[in-house]
Amino acid sequence: MKNLPKDFIFGGATAAYQAEGATQTDGKGRVAWDTYLEENYWYTAEPASDFYHRYPVDLELSEKFGVNGIRISIAWSRIFPTGFGEVNPKGVAYYHKLFSECHKRHVEPFVTLHHFDTPEVLHSDGDFLNRKNIDHFVDYAAYCFKEFSEVNYWTTFNEIGPIGDGQYLVGKFPPGIKYDFEKLFQSHHNMMLAHARAVRVYKDNGYSGEIGVVHALPTKYPYDPSNPGDVRAAELEDIIHNKFILDATYLGRYSQKTMEGVNHILSINGGNLDLREEDFEILESAKDLNDFLGINYYMSDWMRAFDGESEITHNSTGAKGGSKYQLKGVGRREFDVDVPRTDWDWMIYPQGLYDQMMRVKNDYPNYKKIYITENGLGYKDEFVDGTVKDDARIDYVKKHLEIISDAITAGVNVKGYFIWSLMDVFSWSNGYEKRYGLFYVDFETQERYPKKSAYWYKKLAETQIIE
Ligand code: NOJ
Repeated sequence: MKNLPKDFIFGGATAAYQAEGATQTDGKGRVAWDTYLEENYWYTAEPASDFYHRYPVDLELSEKFGVNGIRISIAWSRIFPTGFGEVNPKGVAYYHKLFSECHKRHVEPFVTLHHFDTPEVLHSDGDFLNRKNIDHFVDYAAYCFKEFSEVNYWTTFNEIGPIGDGQYLVGKFPPGIKYDFEKLFQSHHNMMLAHARAVRVYKDNGYSGEIGVVHALPTKYPYDPSNPGDVRAAELEDIIHNKFILDATYLGRYSQKTMEGVNHILSINGGNLDLREEDFEILESAKDLNDFLGINYYMSDWMRAFDGESEITHNSTGAKGGSKYQLKGVGRREFDVDVPRTDWDWMIYPQGLYDQMMRVKNDYPNYKKIYITENGLGYKDEFVDGTVKDDARIDYVKKHLEIISDAITAGVNVKGYFIWSLMDVFSWSNGYEKRYGLFYVDFETQERYPKKSAYWYKKLAETQIIE
């Protein structure tokens, strides 16, 4: 049996827009998702898990089930309804109450400033493609650092990679643009700049807490490692999703190999990037200041060479086998591999997490420490007799924790794990049927019910033994 260190954080993750509901309450400003969901999907962010009102229940449950850390995000548009200017005091008061409840329950809050929810006013003005919005983000960050001095752990952004991917490649996030690589890389770059500037503000002001960033790192393997075309496809996909952003975080520049891949993709698909000398001065000045890296890991992909036209079909309903992902000049994902996958076609491969942790340790030795800030199984849970017997979820989490234990043994400094999600929340492009929580949420009544996994997690947190 494997185990984890005594001081390990056994956390649960949430995000403001997916959990809070109350999208029109107490002066909250609109976000792009409000309109986008209304126009394109069969659900909205109401009521979500009504965390805006029910947080005391979720924190009480957390304490009871051994959860000693929680990822929470601040909804930017609760603090600044239009993204800048006048502060909304009711929004500020809400987060003070929430953080105080966390501490009362001995559940350490890890607070994210941006989890996919740019205020609508700024989003419709180019989101992070517009450099003015970098300034607005940095001002918002500076305000929060000063105001919420009770927060010990800050994360600037959640998943810069999937934001670019969702907004400009897959087109399933607002503004719904597809196959635009110029916008994808520019968004990555500008958001990394915003991150670096916020880190500088935090450190220059001498705050005593810690600050980092959360990256999604899906691992990319060649379908046939002896086929150079497949190897290249895996490399290029890795640059799009992982390497470009990791380079910006820890090298403060893009390596030659990264830029060669980016330029290759842009030469085929069109586009030019606006990368300025002063940008690299900022990135460089922040690269050693990250106190931690958050890794969100759910899946790996197997890549094959591909020269045809781009086409992505997103499986949003959980009809297994419905996905297609092929990008011109990059490659295509092969789903027919001997690896289990979820109903949403996410390939379950714990080794991929190990390989990412080792890659950070080896390629970016200035990383300091890692938290696994999200990992978990999206499932169509069956609620029977007041609970869910989610053995598949337990098995998923167990295998990933075992790999984390192996990575620690191999010298990677991993300090905690946050299951996605603490309680059931809604899923951006999949709705309410894709559940991940330790606690089942009846979205009609908003009652919480611990699943079998919650009892398993409690024992794990108490003993640190993975069994
Ligand atoms: C990553 C995102 O941070 C979170 O918002 C999302 O719901 C989970 N992945 C599951 O897809």
